[in-house]
Amino acid sequence: MFSDKVLNHFENPRNVGRIEKPDGEGVMTSGECGDYLLITLQIDTEEIITDIKFQVKGCVAAVAASSMTTELAKGKHIYDALNISEIDIVDSLDGLPDEKIHCSVLGAGALKKAIYDYLGRKLID
Ligand code: FES
Repeated sequence: MFSDKVLNHFENPRNVGRIEKPDGEGVMTSGECGDYLLITLQIDTEEIITDIKFQVKGCVAAVAASSMTTELAKGKHIYDALNISEIDIVDSLDGLPDEKIHCSVLGAGALKKAIYDYLGRKLID
């Protein structure tokens, strides 16, 4: 059984899409089910995440967790966003069924990869 928050984010996902020319992007694939999530970021000169979008192939929990991930990360400094864990995402959704916890890993993982992608690009510049 899903919480009202999960159903709300599934039915009205926030920040769906893909940023053109992102400052960072990350893809995370679930080892358990093969579903995947792409996150793209826009980051300003103060290293604040000013925009974030996602595209996901996944279940109800994956859509809701991805949507919540973008809400948690938007407006945060990248180093604060790096600390967003799957537990934070699950708690913010008022929980997920045990068998769906792995779906939340996509959000935290893709976000971290997108931030590391940004940091890697900065090193090259
Ligand atoms: S079952 Fe694949 S992400 Fe949920």
